[in-house]
Amino acid sequence: MKRLVASSMVALATLSHALVRFQCSQLVIERLDPLVNPGMVPSAHVHQIVGGNSFNATMDPAKDMPGESTCTTCSFAEDFSNYWTAVLFFKARNGTYKRVPQSSQIQGAKGGITVYYMQDALYDQQQKSKVTAFKPGFRMFTGNVAARTKAEMAQFRQLTYTCMDNQGTREPETLDFPTRPCRAGIMVNARFPTCWDGVNLDSPDHMAHMSYPGSGTFESGGPCPASHPIRMPQVLFEVVWDTRQFNNKADWPADGSQPFVWSFGDGTGYGNHADYVFGWKDDALQRLMDAACVVNCPTAHAKTQGTAAMNQCAKQKTVTEDIDGWLTSLPGM
Ligand SMILES: *[C@@H]1O[C@H](CO)[C@@H](O)[C@H](O)[C@H]1NC(C)=O
Ligand SMILES: *[C@@H]1O[C@H](CO)[C@@H](O)[C@H](O)[C@H]1NC(C)=O
Repeated sequence: MKRLVASSMVALATLSHALVRFQCSQLVIERLDPLVNPGMVPSAHVHQIVGGNSFNATMDPAKDMPGESTCTTCSFAEDFSNYWTAVLFFKARNGTYKRVPQSSQIQGAKGGITVYYMQDALYDQQQKSKVTAFKPGFRMFTGNVAARTKAEMAQFRQLTYTCMDNQGTREPETLDFPTRPCRAGIMVNARFPTCWDGVNLDSPDHMAHMSYPGSGTFESGGPCPASHPIRMPQVLFEVVWDTRQFNNKADWPADGSQPFVWSFGDGTGYGNHADYVFGWKDDALQRLMDAACVVNCPTAHAKTQGTAAMNQCAKQKTVTEDIDGWLTSLPGM
């Protein structure tokens, strides 16, 4: 985040609202998906989940997440939301699969997701656009698990991969998996739509209640469409897959293709998707967003916790199956 930090220093004088960036350590890695497969144990494919420990297979929208969680893996201690993505596997030449570990961008944290909430583009130095925070019961999804072509993926903006040569690599971002070994791992980015219909906390496909701006983009300050008039924070996930132990080209497919595959069987990368269930305590997110600060936002005086407490919040698995050995098939596939 070298660029962000550098630009934020000059920005302090003119910032009007917050752009926050924080780590959530791993809560659990298993086959549960209360948004897409509610009540199903196990769910269709393996996920990596972070956030409040009230996460379970059902997640009734009426559930009081801050009230039912006893801890969270996020550094903002009042964030009991759950954030999750699918999991990456390496497919060896002999056809067996090995789960790719994650690394954390924050020293001492355990894997997980780096989460951002912003009011304007990531590198915008003022963050002037006031946003409305999500409400209790709000959840959303972005992406298409079944997408296997660029055309299918093109209806989503900003679900990307970055082949990292070092910790600071942020570009280029591609829509498909990197085709070469990435020295510092593969970063997967997922940015959610930012315009809300103002009524529905969820929708049958978990997407219809949200929209991209009607013209332009979130980054260009494009206005929300009349159907979805409420401008919300942009939620961005950064997930770093530590592919280093799989970078030996001799282990890669002989036909020159790349060896990584999502836990739902996608080797193209176009099925990239992400899930969000809001669970901040009271108006903690709105207060944070209304402060003029960046990244850790110390001036907002939000309650935070250290990496030891974040890591300690790990949750027992509900689904007991091997996801860590050399597997002959992807769990559930
Ligand atoms: C999941 O959480 C809800 C609400 O906290 C609870 O009522 C339910 O029993 C839990 N379900 C499982 C399968 O643990
Ligand atoms: C398949 O290949 C991997 C990676 O080279 C190796 O660790 C594993 O033992 C192999 N499995 C079998 C069944 O040969």
